[in-house]
Amino acid sequence: MPDFKTVFWSFLVGGTVLSGLSAPAARAADVDQDVMNRGAYLATAADCIACHTKPGGTPFAGGLKIATPMGDIISTNITPDADHGIGKYSEHDFEQALRKGKRRDGENLYPVMPYISYAGMTDQDIHALYVWFMNGVKPVAQTPPATQLSFPSNIRLTLSGWNMLAGSEKQETGDSATYDKLRRGKYLATALEHCGTCHTPRNVMLMEKSDEFLAGSPLSGWYAPNITPSKTGGIGDWSEDDVVQYLHTGRVKGKSQAAGPMGEAVEHSTSHLTDPDLHALAAFLLQVKPMDDTADHQPRDGFGKANDIPDLRSGELTRIDNLSHKAPENLFDANCAACHGQNGAGTVDQYAPSLYKNSVVGAGRPDNLIMTILLGVNRKTADGHASMPAFGSTSDVQRLDDEEVASLVNYVSKTFGSGTYTVTADQVAQVRKDHTPH
Ligand code: HEC
Ligand code: HEC
Ligand code: HEC
Repeated sequence: MPDFKTVFWSFLVGGTVLSGLSAPAARAADVDQDVMNRGAYLATAADCIACHTKPGGTPFAGGLKIATPMGDIISTNITPDADHGIGKYSEHDFEQALRKGKRRDGENLYPVMPYISYAGMTDQDIHALYVWFMNGVKPVAQTPPATQLSFPSNIRLTLSGWNMLAGSEKQETGDSATYDKLRRGKYLATALEHCGTCHTPRNVMLMEKSDEFLAGSPLSGWYAPNITPSKTGGIGDWSEDDVVQYLHTGRVKGKSQAAGPMGEAVEHSTSHLTDPDLHALAAFLLQVKPMDDTADHQPRDGFGKANDIPDLRSGELTRIDNLSHKAPENLFDANCAACHGQNGAGTVDQYAPSLYKNSVVGAGRPDNLIMTILLGVNRKTADGHASMPAFGSTSDVQRLDDEEVASLVNYVSKTFGSGTYTVTADQVAQVRKDHTPH
């Protein structure tokens, strides 16, 4: 049985003759290839695929369930299929969706769609994106399940008030390809890559706090850390080249790696940016207002040293007297040491990174360490495949229980990191329940 939204939708589609002011673009065979290339690059930089594709699904056909404090929101099909996707969208309709969060039928889109950021795009870039979506993306004839929120979030009209309060990026003008370095960097970071969507904290109404730009924010079990150039709470000790390398490959030796949502952003988006664009982004990032952090009092990547234990892999076996499988050092030896070394130094080539001088381990909060252990790392770029097995409920190597994960997290943090928190089994259970498949 079709749900209300589908019925409503087909009613509106059927009724467009009345309001059919702007017809969708004709699929011209002779579209300008430069415009197409620009559109494809922008779609990558704006990472449209991240939200509009479900795991294993056809690109842009929607269906990804995105958890928000309002409830689960399901992304829509934005392939140019006339009945299931955005094939009937005129360029004006498309512009309104991207910049104003208005659907073609005039309804408000939920702000998971980052129109607050995309509002900053130039007309020329919106045009290129539109031309590419209409001509370069394969239409897919399938409609993802509708989003079903409970009252009052299900009333899209209430978002009008939200939109008025939330504000949005100021629209840029001219040809974005000709901007100088910092202006280009700002454009990439704020209008396209929407780094702030994840890294800027939100107020009680879920609006980004513009005065705390990039100061860090929780994100579905992960924590998108403070990436302002604060020397203590942020990435003030990173060089422009470090940031470029991180966005290009997802890792910087002796500093940090990208797992979870950042791993995806690197895989689908930032690793495909040109070198000048990456430098522009990095230069912009390193000159935003530094924000000190409440949890981090020394750079996250500055903690720790090798544990003074002979490395198992060196052949000098040590005797383990405590055979309790819950003893943290035994859990570490059994599950982590094979790759990260018993002393935490990682593999020689750092394919498995050192756990000291590692921002995830040195952070003043445990979120990303817990999530990495539960979900592992899986990031593919031209640089290679970074793969660490999951130890959560879907693991095919070892399923650790909540107590074991808590014990490991505390051990790793105290041995190699900041050691500033103690995680309980209940906390791990909550993260597992709320944010991982189980
Ligand atoms: C962070 C996640 C996210 C990203 C990134 C994103 N979208 Fe969306 N988008 C959504 C969600 C979720 C919806 C559906 C919202 C709703 O139902 O209210 C949506 C809706 C839309 C719609 C309206 C379609 C319809 O009729 O329902 C269009 C058009 C659209 N997105 C285009 C894009 C384009 C183009 C990009 C890249 C420039 C993009 N989106 C990037 C999450 C995202
Ligand atoms: C979809 C959400 C999301 C988006 C979009 C995103 N990030 Fe991240 N970012 C994260 C998360 C989560 C982490 C932590 C990853 C980890 O610990 O493995 C992170 C980590 C980082 C780090 C490493 C910080 C450290 O101390 O280790 C940098 C640098 C970074 N992001 C920069 C950016 C920039 C620049 C952008 C925009 C181009 C961006 N991020 C966009 C979620 C996101
Ligand atoms: C099979 C090898 C292997 C095993 C076993 C393993 N890891 Fe990893 N680990 C890796 C690789 C590879 C990476 C990702 C490096 C990258 O991102 O480039 C990684 C990354 C990490 C990170 C950084 C994640 C981030 O978000 O930045 C932490 C922390 C970590 N491992 C801890 C552990 C702990 C604790 C265990 C034991 C429960 C463990 N690892 C077991 C190979 C392994």
